[in-house]
Amino acid sequence: MKTQILMPTVENIKKASEVIKKGGLVAFPTETVYGLGANGLNEAAVKKIYETKGRPSDNPMILHIAEYEDLRKLVKEVNSVSELLSETFWPGPLTLVLKKKDKVPSMATGGLDTVAVRMPAHPVALALIKESGTPIAAPSANLSGRPSPTRAKDVLNDLNNRVEIILEGGDCEVGIESTVVDLTKDGEILILRPGLVTKGEIEEALNTCGYENITVGYANEEDALSPKSPGMKYTHYSPKAEMIILKGSKEKVLAEIERIKKEGYLGLGSGNKTGVIYFKDLDAKQAVKQFFAKLRDLDEEGVELIISVAPDKTDEVAYALMNRMLKASGYKVIKV
Ligand code: TXA
Ligand code: MG
Repeated sequence: MKTQILMPTVENIKKASEVIKKGGLVAFPTETVYGLGANGLNEAAVKKIYETKGRPSDNPMILHIAEYEDLRKLVKEVNSVSELLSETFWPGPLTLVLKKKDKVPSMATGGLDTVAVRMPAHPVALALIKESGTPIAAPSANLSGRPSPTRAKDVLNDLNNRVEIILEGGDCEVGIESTVVDLTKDGEILILRPGLVTKGEIEEALNTCGYENITVGYANEEDALSPKSPGMKYTHYSPKAEMIILKGSKEKVLAEIERIKKEGYLGLGSGNKTGVIYFKDLDAKQAVKQFFAKLRDLDEEGVELIISVAPDKTDEVAYALMNRMLKASGYKVIKV
């Protein structure tokens, strides 16, 4: 199969929707990262996603919708909290996990009786979903384990000749994947994967509507940096290069980068081509937007060691960034 990158004209979106309708795969832009989409209600089509990405079959997918009413068609019950969160944050980078209806194939949910649903905030994604007339199941459009793609060329690098169409949508605005929340527990919302929609923002939405009694927490309190979304247990976002994280004051971090460049890194020895990811004074949102692209660019340059500097800010977006850095490095943090 020859992969075509198409500009998202009305005609090309129609063409892409034909591929979805006949059970094929289309990569498309969302505001978070590019997705690898198939008809979410077609078991055989969803199976192709797993095969194409090399994704373990117990790692469930997100179903993407374009109309609020479509949530009702996929989940057993839309309670007032899920209604509030969808109305507040959709279209946008928040994914809701709820009990699924029988018509959602268990292939899409990794055998779970819950389903993850999101309405993306990208005009091309919304147009494709509407034109296809079905929810679109889509994980990030990378080979399993590789950094998520935030540019069409990243998708092409991983999936050339494995996907029929890549819709070009420019650089993704957000740059990391959506926040995933579990809404299946009474009185409690669990953040399974941190993202741009933060715990604080969710709490604020709840409080505004008088839900002060509902708690919002990370799925794993003791180790909030390795959330329990099934997908989070696999190797993630790995660059080809060895990667380490430096954590400390600006001065110490800069000194340590120079030292490692000169003397080498213990795990690799010396004389290695080293790349640095340091967002310095960038605000966390800007940093998050660039992180995956930087990993891929450094790989492309043939770097052997990536030194990534932990964000010194403590806000929740910086926390989501740190979560991805930790996963990408395999939790190799060096405090300086
Ligand atoms: O921003 C995003 O979420 C992107 C774009 C394309 O929408 N998609 C994405 O999909 O990141 P993926 O498959 O790479 O990540 C989905 C995450 C995984 O960690 C998966 O385990 C979790 O959502 N998930 C999906 N269904 C779930 C369920 N029923 N229960 C718990 N976690 C679920
Ligand atoms: Mg992914």
